[in-house]
Amino acid sequence: MDAIVFDHVSKVYPNAAARAVDDVSLQVPQGRTVVILGTSGSGKTTLLKMVNRLYEPSSGRIFVEGTDIHALPAVQLRRQIGYVIQQIGLFPHWTVADNVATVLRILKWPAARIGQRVDELLELVGLPPAEYCGRYPSQLSGGQQQRVGIARALAADPAIMLMDEPFGAVDAITRGRLQGEFLALQRRAHKTVLFVTHDVEEALRLADRLIIMDQGKVLQYDTSFNVITRPANDFVCELIGADDMMRLLGLVTVRNVLEPLEPAAVQHRDEVLSIDDSMRDVLAKLLRSEHDTLPVADATGQLVGQCNLQTVRERLRRPASLKNSSD
Ligand SMILES: Nc1ncnc2c1ncn2[C@@H]1O[C@H](COP(=O)(O)OP(=O)(O)OP(=O)(O)O)[C@@H](O)[C@H]1O
Ligand SMILES: [Mg+2]
Repeated sequence: MDAIVFDHVSKVYPNAAARAVDDVSLQVPQGRTVVILGTSGSGKTTLLKMVNRLYEPSSGRIFVEGTDIHALPAVQLRRQIGYVIQQIGLFPHWTVADNVATVLRILKWPAARIGQRVDELLELVGLPPAEYCGRYPSQLSGGQQQRVGIARALAADPAIMLMDEPFGAVDAITRGRLQGEFLALQRRAHKTVLFVTHDVEEALRLADRLIIMDQGKVLQYDTSFNVITRPANDFVCELIGADDMMRLLGLVTVRNVLEPLEPAAVQHRDEVLSIDDSMRDVLAKLLRSEHDTLPVADATGQLVGQCNLQTVRERLRRPASLKNSSD
């Protein structure tokens, strides 16, 4: 079952000339990270906020875990959905522990269980509880505040997370680190994540699938790899900077082109690719290897698939209709 379904969803704000979201229909599969990428004003935040009913669509329907969200009270809906925004919105006069516990208190968890869960969450986001529990938001760096925001959103273990430029307000190094932590977390937790950003590199790095938006419309909904190699039109091409393909391939992993493992590839155990290798590294390794097909292993060393040079080459070939075509 799809976790979130948009069915001809539009949003027109009062007195607005154009639709902020214009007839969006798409499905977000369970357990995947879907990133909404687009320029400022393209409707990303509006689309996101309709999922937890902070905004109501003007027309169309939205389903969460199979239920039309209008059949659910907004409060109940929001408890199933974690929400992280750029200006985290931590309560300034509450400690870190109290901030993280907000939803758990509303859900009336017993105090002991809340304490345990808060510790567990702070560990998870890299803030040792002994050190950070009693601090106030003003005593944290921007990146640490962002981590508390994520811990708070994860508190009641929601199946769905909505994240609106969660790393937008921190410096590039912290941002890279938070992205890495997000990926590690997501590899264990398998939440359904709808993640808004206007940062192309962040989008490519985090997305299982990308939604490219412009003027309220979805221009393309596809894997990062396909958006890089087969942008839907010249706007998408320009937005992601597709002419610099090698740089972009450094941002997506071999997951994108993984094929089922065949016995022949298992023979080449001396040249194993890692599931977290970037496509750029994978291409380099394949070109250097005597073999056309190399096995791919996960973090534990177990072989999980293979990667073939011809297949990658084929998929890198752009359709001739685009102006940056390489054929
Ligand atoms: N509360 C509102 N009332 C009226 N118009 C709004 C409101 N919120 C957004 N808009 C308009 O809707 C359009 C889409 O806005 P939205 O915030 O969804 O864009 P965005 O893609 O998130 O942009 P950004 O990257 O700048 O955050 C814009 O033209 C914006 O001016
Ligand atoms: Mg926005």
